[in-house]
Amino acid sequence: MDTILFLGTDTEVIPNLIHYYYKNSKDNDSFLKAVNSACKDLKGSYAIEVICKDFPDTMIVAKKDSPLVIGTCNNENYVASDIPAILSYTKNFYLLEDNEIVELYKDKIHFYNNNLEEIKKEIKNIEWDATSSEKAGFPDYMLKEIYEQPNSVRETIGSRLKIGEKVNFDDIYISKEYLEKVNKIYLVACGTAMHAGLSIKPMLEQLCKIPVIVDVASEFRYRNPLIDSNTLCIFISQSGETADTIAALKLAKLNNSKTIAISNVIGSSITREADYTIYTHAGPEIAVASTKAYTAQVTLLALLSIYFAETLGNDVERIENIKKEILALPEKIQSILDNVSQIESFASKVYNEHDIFFLGRGIDYTVALEASLKLKEISYIHSDAYAAGELKHGPIALIENGITVIGIITDPSIIEKTISNIQEVITRGAKTFIVTNQNLNNDNYNEVIKIPSTDAMISPILSVIPLQLFAYYISKEKGLDVDKPRNLAKSVTVE
Ligand code: G6P
Repeated sequence: MDTILFLGTDTEVIPNLIHYYYKNSKDNDSFLKAVNSACKDLKGSYAIEVICKDFPDTMIVAKKDSPLVIGTCNNENYVASDIPAILSYTKNFYLLEDNEIVELYKDKIHFYNNNLEEIKKEIKNIEWDATSSEKAGFPDYMLKEIYEQPNSVRETIGSRLKIGEKVNFDDIYISKEYLEKVNKIYLVACGTAMHAGLSIKPMLEQLCKIPVIVDVASEFRYRNPLIDSNTLCIFISQSGETADTIAALKLAKLNNSKTIAISNVIGSSITREADYTIYTHAGPEIAVASTKAYTAQVTLLALLSIYFAETLGNDVERIENIKKEILALPEKIQSILDNVSQIESFASKVYNEHDIFFLGRGIDYTVALEASLKLKEISYIHSDAYAAGELKHGPIALIENGITVIGIITDPSIIEKTISNIQEVITRGAKTFIVTNQNLNNDNYNEVIKIPSTDAMISPILSVIPLQLFAYYISKEKGLDVDKPRNLAKSVTVE
């Protein structure tokens, strides 16, 4: 038969196609054969589970370019798009590859290739604790995940960092000779993971003296990027299943670039495509708005930057101080989480606003972008982030009496500049909420949240925390579903 082309999500074509093959088949294994034949005709990505009234004990499962996992335990088998969804039932998983097809019964599983030859697959044991995917007394997953950050940062540092020793990345072997040839490093991701890339760009560039480009995966994959065998491409994805990020990775491989995946989910699609994988150890992130994954990603990327710099033999004096500061992060995050009443109270004053703007320079601008994204995702308030120096080139026209502006001021080298930009919005009547590690004159602002100091290069890991909480409390004040905001999905597995 001719190939059927279907567009969008017209999945009802698939059962019809399976039925077409099923009707024409006489064999005992006709159900399996029918699904396999149908899959061979399909174009694009899919993950399907098929049931048939003639085979009430059987389910046939197949996937291509979409995630699908099979969980198994005593006399029970499960199918889901990702591990956290079924973590409370089992820790044992089979990770399905493209073009494999599975015959699933309550108590047994058969795997086949697309020639219907039986194949063996290894069970993967996922170490995540089942309770880690529960709310553990918190009202929402998002708040729980915000509060988990001291631990998720600590776990991500793990044994990679010890004072007096070089940072350990034995799990990826990147040689000095290779790094010396690298012409640029791409950090490619979507959403919050892309902001993690933006936040680490200054550190990676300054420590390694290699140009770093941060790109949105959906742009990178269609941009025809200038990459070759001397370009190192790093792909960041909490879920490891974001369709655009996976496609961008495939493109980098086609161009012979070395690829590193950074993911939070063991065995996720991105980790199976990349040359090397390193994991954040944030534990399952359930809330759609990403929080602990971001701080874990920035931490891991900071360690990776040091590893590259040490491999190259660069900038050793500053590195020792940054290492001490990285080890101190969990305690400093905890100290922010122990004092949230000021943030909650400011949120209760501004939750009805229509627009909230975020300002920052340099590394603080990258946090402004992430804070603004967090706010729009879960509060539906219109929000934008601006590099403070750009204010005069347009955005200042939006500032009028009573508007809320959030300023982030942590980098001592540009503090005066940002303060002067904030002054410009105050003069025009803005209410200001400042997140800073500096000793500012509090009387100038409506609210100042003081956070602990750290090296400017890793300050986003601290400065983002009050702003995650700010978005959270605004959403709660508005009575919204914090964990499942409208129109958004945790993993965007389609383009
Ligand atoms: C979705 C989520 C975001 C996330 C982005 C990238 O848009 O809602 O929270 O940052 O995907 O996800 P990834 O799993 O690739 O990090």
